Amino acid sequence: MDYIVSVEDLCVRFGEFWAVKNVSFSVEYGQIFGFLGANGAGKTTTIRVICGLINPTSGRVTVDSEHFEKGKEDVIKAKVGYMSQKFTLYNDLSIKENLDFAAVTHGVTKKDLQRTKDELFELIQLKRAESTLVAQLPSGIKQQVALVAALIHQPKLVVLDEPTAGVSPASRASFWELIRKLTTIGKTVFVTTHYMDEAENCDIVALMRSGELIAMGSVPQLKKNTFNEQMYNVTPNTSFSDEDLDMLKSLCKVIEPCGIHYHVLLKQNADFHQVEGKVDIEEIQPSLEDVFIHLV
Ligand SMILES: Nc1ncnc2c1ncn2[C@@H]1O[C@H](COP(=O)(O)OP(=O)(O)OP(=O)(O)O)[C@@H](O)[C@H]1O
Ligand SMILES: [Mg+2]
Repeated sequence: MDYIVSVEDLCVRFGEFWAVKNVSFSVEYGQIFGFLGANGAGKTTTIRVICGLINPTSGRVTVDSEHFEKGKEDVIKAKVGYMSQKFTLYNDLSIKENLDFAAVTHGVTKKDLQRTKDELFELIQLKRAESTLVAQLPSGIKQQVALVAALIHQPKLVVLDEPTAGVSPASRASFWELIRKLTTIGKTVFVTTHYMDEAENCDIVALMRSGELIAMGSVPQLKKNTFNEQMYNVTPNTSFSDEDLDMLKSLCKVIEPCGIHYHVLLKQNADFHQVEGKVDIEEIQPSLEDVFIHLV
């Protein structure tokens, strides 16, 4: 199998604290690989190793056939476009100035820069003048320009750390359309998000918890492996009391609040007759959010 990223037994320690513990996974060329986990799970730390920004404490990382080792950082950086979690662009520079700066830091020639910009502006359908100050851009467009900056040196791998944090739902959807387009121009996308609806778009999802990789697979695989029985959506009606909730809980081996509903798995041999008339019940497929909450 052809992998663009291979991570084997990766460990990262900060002082006495192990932020990443024995993590192994591989990413195929052309995939959208979703890297999920609660705050502090070790996602950004793993990304920083993949991007050649920090040295691992131990383990082996390969990016597009190059092994990560001291002195090889620039080789890795040329292969990876990184949109970091905190910083995206300089607000007090224009779109053009930001992109020129990104190009210079990667040693992109003027000719290549123009060609890449033409291709990427076409991709994102930029409708702002290049002279616009980044501070004046809505957050959705800012993230699209940041993506162009991350791709300015034509990397094969694009690493996006929470690219849609703080972006409106409509802009999030168009950003994901862009992510899908990237795979059609030969890029591999490694992306983190806290939005489970977004993660459903990934080919493969890996789930981190407290520095460890606890699950990985396609979204249908993860759902099947986590819940291999019928899930129900239970909606309490107006007469639903605390006692009814206790009764419902006693029937369920899994019960997760989900807005005004509960997503539940019944205990063996239990049924809903004891809460009949108090709730509406519907058979549902588990969402990735159900998987995430259950595992994390
Ligand atoms: N340079 C550092 N020094 C000490 N601890 C660090 C350092 N960088 C990260 N950590 C710690 O390592 C753990 C993992 O952090 P990391 O940023 O990788 O998490 P994350 O999964 O990206 O979380 P989030 O979803 O909040 O971005 C956290 O407990 C964090 O405080
Ligand atoms: Mg992070």
